[in-house]
Amino acid sequence: MSSTDNANPVITRRDDGAIAILTADNPPVNATSLAVRSGLKAAVETADADPAIGAIVIACAGRTFFAGADVNEFGRPPQKPILFELCNAIEACSKPVVAAFHGTALGGGFEIALASHQRIMKADARAGMPEVLLGLTPGAGGTQRLPRLIGLPAALDLITSGRQIKAQEALKLGSIDAIAESDLLGEAIAMARAAIGKPIRRSGDLDVPAYDAAAVEEQLAAVKKKARGQTSPVEAATLVMNAVKGSTQEGIAAEREAFLRLMDTEQSKALRHIFAAERQALKIDGLDLSSAREVRHIGVVGAGIMGSGISIAMADAGYSVTVVERDEEAASKGRERIGGTYARTVKSGRIAQAVADERLARINVGHDANAFTNCDLVIEAVFDDLQVKQELFERLSGIVRDDCILATNTSYLNPNDIAAHVAHKERVVGMHFFAPANIMKLLEVVRAEHTAPEVLATAIAVGKRLGKQCVVAGVCTGFIGNRIYASYRKQCEFMLEEGATPTEIDAAMESFGLPMGPFRAFDLSGLDISWALRKRQAATRDPAARYCVIPDRLCEAGQFGQKSGAGYYNYASGKPVPDAKAADIIEQAAKEKGLPRKTFSADDIRRRLIAAMANEGGKELEEGVALRESDIDLVFTNGYGWPKWRGGPMFQARVMGLEKIVAEVREMQARDGSEFTLSSWLEAQAQS
Ligand code: COA
Repeated sequence: MSSTDNANPVITRRDDGAIAILTADNPPVNATSLAVRSGLKAAVETADADPAIGAIVIACAGRTFFAGADVNEFGRPPQKPILFELCNAIEACSKPVVAAFHGTALGGGFEIALASHQRIMKADARAGMPEVLLGLTPGAGGTQRLPRLIGLPAALDLITSGRQIKAQEALKLGSIDAIAESDLLGEAIAMARAAIGKPIRRSGDLDVPAYDAAAVEEQLAAVKKKARGQTSPVEAATLVMNAVKGSTQEGIAAEREAFLRLMDTEQSKALRHIFAAERQALKIDGLDLSSAREVRHIGVVGAGIMGSGISIAMADAGYSVTVVERDEEAASKGRERIGGTYARTVKSGRIAQAVADERLARINVGHDANAFTNCDLVIEAVFDDLQVKQELFERLSGIVRDDCILATNTSYLNPNDIAAHVAHKERVVGMHFFAPANIMKLLEVVRAEHTAPEVLATAIAVGKRLGKQCVVAGVCTGFIGNRIYASYRKQCEFMLEEGATPTEIDAAMESFGLPMGPFRAFDLSGLDISWALRKRQAATRDPAARYCVIPDRLCEAGQFGQKSGAGYYNYASGKPVPDAKAADIIEQAAKEKGLPRKTFSADDIRRRLIAAMANEGGKELEEGVALRESDIDLVFTNGYGWPKWRGGPMFQARVMGLEKIVAEVREMQARDGSEFTLSSWLEAQAQS
């Protein structure tokens, strides 16, 4: 065995007999930065020209194989060699090239593997083409080589969804040649050695396997439908189809054009903003995430919709869960609810019966709170009433261990008040899940006045293990999301008084990319819940604040939304259609206020709603309730159905232009009162 010195610091070559092993080491994730591209291309060409070498292995050091293009290079002028040139050079090599991958082979990383002549993958590794998730398409031959290797339908699926596949699936599809049993590098070297002197199979030279044209047409239509306005999956599908229209190199030229064009789009910028936001969110000044305590056993109080969703999320993540209800009848209903959810998940094919049984066995539902004595963390998910929660926490603090973390899932109450009678207040934290808690990605982790840093770190660690996007929030009514949502909701209602219809507002927001417009969403969640809240708050409401009576009048008329057959819409036909009674109520309310009715364009509606949201977000940033602008965007893209390709309300405010947004807020302030006072943060940002 010998080694050859290499001038490039990130690519090293070590020879094992006739095999040149080229190893990249570019922490943290071996992104294909310039040094990787130039070093690897030179090393492949040098080894190809070296008469002592019969075959080449490409591998990576560190935690993963190449994780794709270096996102830090995006937006800068491309520097040669471009990744597709490296891939072409690998494919053109006259000696067999084996890619040996561990961790994740993503995007450009997978493309390097596809351009190699053989691929071997560690059993726990994953591969994928996540470019569409960044608003891009593959740019280094992936749309051409993958369909030639695994066929059009599978390539379309992987490339347009961005989903990652595990080794078994990769092998079954034919995208790899072998799974490494134990010693990845050793087995890759053996593979390379066996390939010396044999014909080389280049993915780019293969014919696309025969396919069912009608089925592929259907698949393409489905991609478009699912994308709901996002362009990159549709562009990626078109590129994949080039594989049956022309040569690999023609297809690569089209890929390159699309990749560069998409890089400049608002959608890609929004998605890259979210990618960075996700990685920023857990970097919290002064907080050491490694101080998180070990949590094994979790308690949940309440087995209603929220409590059972939380319990399922916990069991799915491997925790053992003790759920306590107030009596056996409620516990039994809870068991049914949890069992029913698992049964539906099995029926839908998402998990096997055995997996469901194993998870279900980890959830113990009873009605004796003493069962919490061995818990490391107890989360309450009971009725959102201060007195109920205060009494519960006081009782719990007498039952659980002194170091057991007490978390509240309250949506609107103040965790400091909930903790009022708790011994060791430093263990109280908010964990605000979004329904259904086992599905929705967002978890607002609320730092209460006394929350100890390691308690906050533990809540985040649990959230991460559940696969949630954690966002740290400070205490205020509604925390980050619901507080902004309340401002949004008010402006939706105000626009009704001023002349817009529910249908117009919904259409404006649905064509913007929301899966459901605000009024359809209000109808779906039920108008009676916020009605009850408003009635409770009526006595303390500022009489000078603008108040819209429309939702109250709908409820008084028995129109609670979808569940009662009508709300803002009528559901008698099974589909939402404009409701005559709602229209009367709206018109009457406007008349009483003497407001002139005007016409709103879709742009007017969007600008007004984004302005209300960004302004409230600005206030949260001033108060420290939200730590950074991008956290607010994560809240809306993970908890409120905002498409990631819109980047969130703060991102959109910038896209629309902060000056315009500020002008809109000033109008709001003049028209709608002090609740909509311009945020000084927003004003300062607009001026900077
Ligand atoms: N380019 C540059 N940096 C990258 C990167 C990329 N393609 N992918 C990840 N990183 C950075 C992250 O920003 C993070 O940096 P930080 O520690 O300074 O915050 C670090 O690598 C670790 O990433 P993280 O996501 O926190 O680690 P992980 O182990 O959870 O996941 C990956 C690793 C590779 C699976 C994940 O980072 C990923 O999916 N990356 C994107 C891959 C991709 O989309 N490639 C195609 C680009 S077109």
